[in-house]
Amino acid sequence: MLKQTWKTTSYPSNYKKRTICTKVNILFSIFLIFGFIVLYLQYYHVDNSIKTIISNVPSLKVTGSNRTVTFSNVYTNISKELVIVVQVHNRDMYLTHLIDSLRNAAGIETVLLIFSHDYYDEKLNKLIAKIDFCSYKQIYYPYSVQNHTNSFPGPETNTDKNGKRPNRNATTAQIKHHWWWKANVVFNALSVQKYQGLVLLLEEDFYVLEDFIFSLKQMQIAANKFCNNCKILSLADNPDATNIGRAKITNANQVRITKKFSNMGIALNIKTWNEIVNCADSFCKYNDDNWDFSLQNVISTCLEDTDTMMLMFPRVVHIGACGVHVTSKNCDSTETILKIKDKFKEVKSLLFPRSLEKHSRNPYPVYSRPNGGWEDVRDHQLCRNMTTSTAKEL
Ligand SMILES: *[C@@H]1O[C@H](CO)[C@@H](O)[C@H](O)[C@H]1NC(C)=O
Ligand SMILES: *[C@@H]1O[C@H](CO)[C@@H](O)[C@H](O)[C@H]1NC(C)=O
Ligand SMILES: *[C@@H]1O[C@H](CO)[C@@H](O)[C@H](O)[C@H]1NC(C)=O
Ligand SMILES: *[C@@H]1O[C@H](CO)[C@@H](O)[C@H](O)[C@H]1NC(C)=O
Ligand SMILES: *[C@@H]1O[C@H](CO)[C@@H](O)[C@H](O)[C@H]1NC(C)=O
Repeated sequence: MLKQTWKTTSYPSNYKKRTICTKVNILFSIFLIFGFIVLYLQYYHVDNSIKTIISNVPSLKVTGSNRTVTFSNVYTNISKELVIVVQVHNRDMYLTHLIDSLRNAAGIETVLLIFSHDYYDEKLNKLIAKIDFCSYKQIYYPYSVQNHTNSFPGPETNTDKNGKRPNRNATTAQIKHHWWWKANVVFNALSVQKYQGLVLLLEEDFYVLEDFIFSLKQMQIAANKFCNNCKILSLADNPDATNIGRAKITNANQVRITKKFSNMGIALNIKTWNEIVNCADSFCKYNDDNWDFSLQNVISTCLEDTDTMMLMFPRVVHIGACGVHVTSKNCDSTETILKIKDKFKEVKSLLFPRSLEKHSRNPYPVYSRPNGGWEDVRDHQLCRNMTTSTAKEL
């Protein structure tokens, strides 16, 4: 009955108007919803199919399905936008994983990758020769233990006139010397080439996240915005980088500003490096054979106005369960890699943060007590001498 009534043409005129109004309303709502969906997809859906032009960040653009990262404001005539230096000893099993992770990183094709070796091994060279995703170079630390098997700066068997041997361990001393040498060589070479961008320092047993280059650039932008003293950018806090399980994915767009330095993936430019070299004694004479504690000493005693900006969710993970400082019965990293990949899957939708925010947590206190192993005056001299080092390979 009702249907029949509706089919008649004798509706009251205001009924007809109401139906038109309803239709218009429905159409308008659909239009609005569609509009919101389009806006959402365009501006907020930052994931794999990232096509976002990040607003207020003219220098940073992520386009296309291959997620090329373009940093147009970095002046350089080595035509590279980021230089990454990897300190390599002899653990090819870890280096394999690092190279795999670099291959998967967005923007990696814009990078100059430098491997700095203190151990010559064809296995390592073969591994590196397979790199086809960016340009790379290799440099060799000239004072290696491998090439100084029984003379300084390698291990020595002779004693001094009192029958004593200097309190130093050539193997651990090499790490600090190598770190200082390669940084000097790279910055000296890059300054000749007028490169003024960032240099990121990694190690053979690190593993990077796909948005680490992007995040680094976001940190640079954030530092310009709210932290003029943030001269060192760090991809991870130490404890999170060594135990990815404890890292909170909700922190993916957060940074902490701190005086406490992290040794996990630090990036700096030539200006900061020159300030550090001006404080060379605070590094070279500090009685600690760890480069990171020595650099902390530089910052704490000679460059007091320096802050570190640190990502709260790590973009680099330390996978080396076995090495000079850490030993474990299980050196195999397969399990660790699986754990890391699971965590990365969990955080995926939060990667490529559109901007970074300051985390409210209080900065860590800085503890400084030298660990020793760096008393030999020859180590101080060699270290001082390295500030003028150059490498013909660069
Ligand atoms: C990635 O995108 C850039 C810029 O659009 C383009 O030049 C390059 O060929 C692309 N690479 C691949 C592998 O698609
Ligand atoms: C880099 O640019 C400077 C200044 O334009 C120029 O003098 C120098 O020759 C360039 N160096 C190289 C290696 O192209
Ligand atoms: C060090 O020793 C290795 C192995 O004997 C050799 O191949 C390499 O050329 C040496 N490196 C330097 C810098 O002298
Ligand atoms: C030097 O340190 C390494 C790593 O801690 C250790 O394995 C090695 O035995 C030490 N060498 C000497 C001569 O004490
Ligand atoms: C450091 O350089 C000075 C001057 O060139 C040289 O006399 C000295 O032997 C060098 N020391 C070391 C440990 O290389």
